[in-house]
Amino acid sequence: MSDTDITKFATEGNRDLHILFGSQSGNSEGLAEKWQKEAPRYGLNPTVHDMDGFDIKSMSEMTRVMIVCSTWGEGEMPDNAEELYQEALDAGSILSKTNFSVCSLGDTGYDLFCQSGKDWDKTLQDMGGARIYDRVDCDVDYEMPAEEWMNGVMPKLACVGDDGNFVPELEEKMVAYASGVEIDEPEEEVEAVGGTTAYQAMATVPLFFKKPNKWLKRVKGVLAEDELPTTGIEKAKEMFKELRKVTLKSLPQGRDYIALVDNEKCIGCTQCVYYCNFASIDMISWDLNARTSQFESKKALILDDTCVGCTLCAFACPVEAITMESKV
Ligand SMILES: Cc1cc2nc3c(=O)[nH]c(=O)nc-3n(C[C@H](O)[C@H](O)[C@H](O)COP(=O)(O)O)c2cc1C
Ligand code: SF4
Ligand code: SF4
Repeated sequence: MSDTDITKFATEGNRDLHILFGSQSGNSEGLAEKWQKEAPRYGLNPTVHDMDGFDIKSMSEMTRVMIVCSTWGEGEMPDNAEELYQEALDAGSILSKTNFSVCSLGDTGYDLFCQSGKDWDKTLQDMGGARIYDRVDCDVDYEMPAEEWMNGVMPKLACVGDDGNFVPELEEKMVAYASGVEIDEPEEEVEAVGGTTAYQAMATVPLFFKKPNKWLKRVKGVLAEDELPTTGIEKAKEMFKELRKVTLKSLPQGRDYIALVDNEKCIGCTQCVYYCNFASIDMISWDLNARTSQFESKKALILDDTCVGCTLCAFACPVEAITMESKV
């Protein structure tokens, strides 16, 4: 196999890759879409599937599968994954050709951390699938571990041949092959800008331009080798996690509950707005003659049709103006 023509291997025959996402608030879906753009680098032809409406039987014909799924409620599947998961439990041993790996998103504040991803990982194995790369369980800062997982699993899936068999000897060549492939980014349209020539130049040249992939790899390599000191931010993250755990345990949460703002306490700081992942909080004007600065003349208002009772706003509020109340 060492004399295999890697370009031929990566570009001929069945190169399909299937990425399935189970997502409630869009994080997993966003990752699936990001990975879809990376796949052509490895000669793979990707399709992203919403778990909602996916036919579990069709997976038996798929040789390369990536799963990304979050956990909701108390260790439960997100809504779009629930039905498919139940069907998978009853599907039997149909994945004799399927190589898979799972990326789970979750929050260590919850007792059943990343339970859905763990469930998918076990179930796909029970269905006869071959785990080609270990599952990763990502906490709220999921971007970096998810990217590392993608960088680990994609070259392996790319070394699955036409017959569905993984060829481990090709992996090194595949990584080298992928690093040399340029992905065509869609060209951005440049709008006509008025003003002076200097102003036009400022408006059309992006302040932050994309760094070449090789540069990024070198930086990551250097960072991986060095023992970096733990910074204040890193320490604060741990304290933050602990505090979040305590808050979660002390507050009622989930879809049967809703956040409620006490207007007497709210100082209009907008922290809760930044924390809410569901755009469920508006700042509304409030008639307060005594207050002068603009933000203090506004108060938070929870939009009850989109609030999912996640408690993040109550955690964020510096003056304990938010409580979690039963919807009924
Ligand atoms: C109401 C609620 C319940 C959650 N329950 C869990 C849980 O039981 N276990 C866990 O690990 N994460 C839990 N999470 C965290 C989510 O899995 C995490 O925010 C994930 O990034 C969401 O990804 P998604 O946008 O793809 O759904 C919960 C989040 C919310 C808002
Ligand atoms: S509980 Fe708060 S942060 Fe969570 S969805 Fe409702 S308003 Fe947003
Ligand atoms: S975080 Fe608290 S004080 Fe700040 S706007 Fe929200 S409810 Fe008001």
